[in-house]
Amino acid sequence: MKDIVIFGAPGAGKGTQSDFIVSHYGLTHVSTGDLLRSEIAAQTDLGLRIKAIMENGQLVSDDIVVDMIDRAIAADTRGMLFDGFPRTVAQAQTLDRLLSAHGRSLTAMVQLEVPEAELIRRLLERAKIQGRSDDNEQTIANRLAEYRAKTLPVAEYYASQGKRHTVDGLGTIEEIAARIRALLD
Ligand code: AP5
Ligand code: MG
Repeated sequence: MKDIVIFGAPGAGKGTQSDFIVSHYGLTHVSTGDLLRSEIAAQTDLGLRIKAIMENGQLVSDDIVVDMIDRAIAADTRGMLFDGFPRTVAQAQTLDRLLSAHGRSLTAMVQLEVPEAELIRRLLERAKIQGRSDDNEQTIANRLAEYRAKTLPVAEYYASQGKRHTVDGLGTIEEIAARIRALLD
């Protein structure tokens, strides 16, 4: 069973490449960003609490996302692709513990590398099409700052376990998918 983390900055293409990876390898996709946006759309208590945090481009608390991941792993029998999680070293340590409790361990972390100017270009482009409420210049700047401060250390965490694999995230969607496939195969 494969359990994989797709890692990268906001706009790196995690969600886009997830579609191909889950269909090709028969994995269950879990995106904490998508789960949190569903809570906001459903106007649950949790959704009301996290709306302002996400619109500000900050990370929501580890407890909230860990609870979501805990339930997703417990329900899964196929192997999972984690997208947008873990985003802090504490989350990465918890993921190791949760997988281990189910007799599993992370197979690999795939890090999409994309220069910051291209990340911003993609997110501003998406803003014109989709209107995601965190795709505006100020919030994008905050998301990138959170990424550098809290999420990049997660890459070192996986490097120290020998599980980090970097992929050039520039090019067409198909070219990048082919690079990921070559790596995971
Ligand atoms: P989340 O939903 O995870 O957003 P993000 O990490 O900011 O990243 P995006 O989803 O914007 O980018 P992506 O890498 O998926 O790229 P995509 O494929 O969409 O998180 C949102 C918020 O939720 C966070 O800020 C935080 O508040 C909260 N949150 C989520 N998880 C959390 C956690 N674990 N802990 C705490 N808080 C958490 O591509 C981007 C755009 O580029 C698209 O328009 C796409 O079409 C385009 N594109 C993709 N590939 C290419 C390409 N090769 N060439 C050109 N364009 C491309
Ligand atoms: Mg995404």
